[in-house]
Amino acid sequence: MFSSFSLINYDAYEPYISSYTMNMHYNNYKEYLENLNKLLNNYDGQYAKEELVKNINIFPITERDNILFNLGGVLNHELFFKILGNGQISDELNNKIVNDFKSFDNFKQEFIKTANLLTGSGYTFLVLNNENNLEIINVANQDTPYSYGLRPIMNLDLWEHAYYLDYQNDRSTYINNFFSIINFDEVSKIYAQEIQKNL
Ligand SMILES: [Fe+2]
Repeated sequence: MFSSFSLINYDAYEPYISSYTMNMHYNNYKEYLENLNKLLNNYDGQYAKEELVKNINIFPITERDNILFNLGGVLNHELFFKILGNGQISDELNNKIVNDFKSFDNFKQEFIKTANLLTGSGYTFLVLNNENNLEIINVANQDTPYSYGLRPIMNLDLWEHAYYLDYQNDRSTYINNFFSIINFDEVSKIYAQEIQKNL
């Protein structure tokens, strides 16, 4: 059984994301978690969630898609909720962003541009690739970058449930506003952890 990520302050992201949306979104995440735990009923829990993605072939082929969908739903939402908030970027991550994207502003513009290109439901991710360089990618539905050997650093939920009640069809304003509620202190910590792995 995987335990739930706790999100207490639903109103902490106002006015960019309403408390109503956050409350509903958190309940949506918990449905993914409940589904995952049901599907993993006989699983003995030797892998962490991200390791389970890479070892999905331990499950019967007929169950893999469903497990992966819910596992991705849990991982993607836990990262998204974790990196929302307020916090300063570390020098280490800022220097890496400047190195890989030429400037922080270029990184921001590229992230926004990529997010606007996503069609259907999915996420925009900042990831670390095998060369330990940063990339911005889109994934569909509940795909997780771990499936592609990429390490997620931050993400933006672009499913309609994440913004439609607050922004209706104006997804681009939601995407722009995301940059006002990123906890870059948390993103920097995730980057610092991930850069140590797979070297
Ligand atoms: Fe979501």
